[in-house]
Amino acid sequence: MTFDKIYPVLLFKAILFYLLWTILLFPTHLFIIISDSSTMFSNITTTMALFNKDAKSFIKLISIICFLEISALNGQLRVGFYSESCHNVESIVSSMVKEASQREPRMPAILLRLHFHDCFVQGCDGSILIDNVKEAERNAFGHEGLGGFAEIQTAKTQLEVQCPGVVSCADIVALAARDAVVMAGGESYEVETGRRDGRVSDLSFASKMPDVDDSIEVLKEKFKTKGFTEKDLVILSGAHTIGTTACFFMPKRLYNFTGKSDADPSINPKFLPELRSKCPKNGDVNVRISLDNLSERKFDDQIMHNIKNGFAVIASDARLYDDNITRAVVDSYLEITEKSNPNSSSFGNDFGLAMVKLGRLEVKTGLLGEIRKVGDHIV
Ligand code: HEM
Repeated sequence: MTFDKIYPVLLFKAILFYLLWTILLFPTHLFIIISDSSTMFSNITTTMALFNKDAKSFIKLISIICFLEISALNGQLRVGFYSESCHNVESIVSSMVKEASQREPRMPAILLRLHFHDCFVQGCDGSILIDNVKEAERNAFGHEGLGGFAEIQTAKTQLEVQCPGVVSCADIVALAARDAVVMAGGESYEVETGRRDGRVSDLSFASKMPDVDDSIEVLKEKFKTKGFTEKDLVILSGAHTIGTTACFFMPKRLYNFTGKSDADPSINPKFLPELRSKCPKNGDVNVRISLDNLSERKFDDQIMHNIKNGFAVIASDARLYDDNITRAVVDSYLEITEKSNPNSSSFGNDFGLAMVKLGRLEVKTGLLGEIRKVGDHIV
């Protein structure tokens, strides 16, 4: 909704409130005037004074209403935001995810990662898609290997035909991430929409992205800065239950962990030769290996078992077992599987909740941002 559409609504509400205000106060004024009617002059003065007081209250009231209204407009993320303005949005996005995944089985993982990278830099505002600026955020080192841009644009093009200028690219990315999880066999969750697109893209903003070789302290701190707990860090990293990594991210962990030509000691000795053979020293850094070597395409809790048993592939996942708090979170999901207690919260369910939280990160709603016409272009 634009401000010119909001303004008449605000004015109407203000008038309505004023009428109610006057009706409520009128008997009081009448009583004051009648009980103090010694002279005509004093009557007029009292009436004027009361009118002045009312006028001031009226202005105050309008300001409060406008403030509340604008605050509400700024925080409008909700499930079904497009139910009236573009009711096909969810089906268009899920069809895109389905078709893209049939063409490219890696797609669910790619789209899930894209949402995380969008949200972690300047909030979930679709700025990761922008490509027509000099030092675009999406070309930052921390976003190495990202994809799914063309697929988001496919959905955007279809949506622009059906409901021009209505659906933000940021929402398409968020919806596609949920559909990606479902495509991979994970639990569904409701995606709040109403995000608006950012207009800023700058490579330097991505410098705070978590790095694969960060210590657990740094990972915790980077997530904390964005409002995430240790539990969120573990659950969201659980996204690595699907997808692949390029060998590009492996050399330090496999060949030079402490600068003494050694491997990360947390790697299970049975797993180290396999990892080294897949990503040989000075080999092709573009070769891709599964992040979850047992079920790369299945969204399950296998990644938690891998982390505990030394079968985590990238270093940042292994680090989750270095710290008492994050280790306890990993273990809690394994206990659930072992005891199969139906009342305990499962990884699948918690992942959905954490994704909703991720999707709220520093969003632009209401009057902020814009609805971009083309995913990768700001004008
Ligand atoms: C804890 C911080 C994280 C670090 C250091 C990290 C790092 C990485 C790295 C290095 C890769 C391989 C990229 C490539 O070679 O293309 C990767 C892949 C992936 N990441 Fe993360 N990640 C983190 C958190 C997350 C989160 C929170 C999500 C989603 C909620 C996520 C989803 C994914 C997915 C799905 C892939 C596979 C992508 C593909 O197959 O192309 N990651 N991550």
